[in-house]
Amino acid sequence: MDKDNIIVLGGAGYIGSHTCLRLSEEGYTPIVVDNLSRGYAEAVQWGPLEKADILDTLSLTEIFKKYKPLAVIHFAALIEVGESVKDPTSFWKNNVVGALSVLEAMKVAGVKNIVFSSTAAVYGQPDTEEPLGEDSSLDPINPYGQTKLAAERMIRDHESFGIKSVCLRYFNACGADPEGRVGEMHNPETHLIPLVVQTALGLRQQISIFGTDYPTADGTCVRDYVHVLDLADAHIKAVEHLTGGGETFVCNLGTGSGYSVREIINAVKEMSGNRDFEVLETDRRSGDQAFLVADNKHAQKILGWQPTSGLEENIRTALKFHSSDKYRNFWKNR
Ligand code: UFG
Repeated sequence: MDKDNIIVLGGAGYIGSHTCLRLSEEGYTPIVVDNLSRGYAEAVQWGPLEKADILDTLSLTEIFKKYKPLAVIHFAALIEVGESVKDPTSFWKNNVVGALSVLEAMKVAGVKNIVFSSTAAVYGQPDTEEPLGEDSSLDPINPYGQTKLAAERMIRDHESFGIKSVCLRYFNACGADPEGRVGEMHNPETHLIPLVVQTALGLRQQISIFGTDYPTADGTCVRDYVHVLDLADAHIKAVEHLTGGGETFVCNLGTGSGYSVREIINAVKEMSGNRDFEVLETDRRSGDQAFLVADNKHAQKILGWQPTSGLEENIRTALKFHSSDKYRNFWKNR
């Protein structure tokens, strides 16, 4: 059954492409809008691709008018914490001016619902090792988190124009489609799980632990790793919440369980058949928070969302994708 068009800004990227897969399985047509600066045309498999930049408000408006979507899901952003410290200008331009351009195009084209990719980085540096609720203090310690918080606020203010929103604060997305149709393909890759997986598979020489003197049990940073298809499902629930007349809200998307960098490295070692690889201990990476784990009760209550995958499935699907011919050939052919 064809339910309707959903615009997916940044749908050629990692979380965007997995969301398109799930939208299509649920009977929606995902219309991907992407400038392909970070995403790949090969990842657009479940609907048309419109190549455009979110800063180009006129093109966005035309695309929105052409497809008359039920909702816009906005993934198109710069996402790496370390890069944001080095190049804040690009982050403010893409993530804040870009989001404003999306809202302006929605206003002109009359699109009333937006689901926005936000992040745990809006919370800053928590004092305790307690899961973070949405009411935790908002005090980002890196430009990435600052830009996402600014965009969240800007989106909420546009409710005056009848634009309703759900801002989803992701914790650490990971894993891949178990059938291997899409997976994580950042270039350069900076995220922990794909880097450790690639090292275990012999595609990289070594993995570095960025900081071993954090105030955590083993001195390395703790994160809440959530499977990308669980995140994708939350977007569909958020779209249906809005199209069903639900209110604007913000919620965390995480599992509620945290793992340290060392625990991730050990888990990947074990799951890849105890392959040995070099682990270096280096200085902290600028902008990193020590402990980020979600309290996900809000998402459970309002969206009826619960993560279905745990760490084992996250690592298993990442290992499968990065071992696949599809992944290796993809890079060979570029
Ligand atoms: N890390 C290493 N070595 C590496 C890479 C990462 O020790 O080679 C560490 C980082 O220092 C951090 C942890 O592994 O402590 C996770 O780092 P990632 O780069 O995988 O992810 P981040 O937590 O920095 O950021 C990710 C997303 C953000 C999102 C955040 C929310 O990139 O968009 O999760 O928790 F905001």
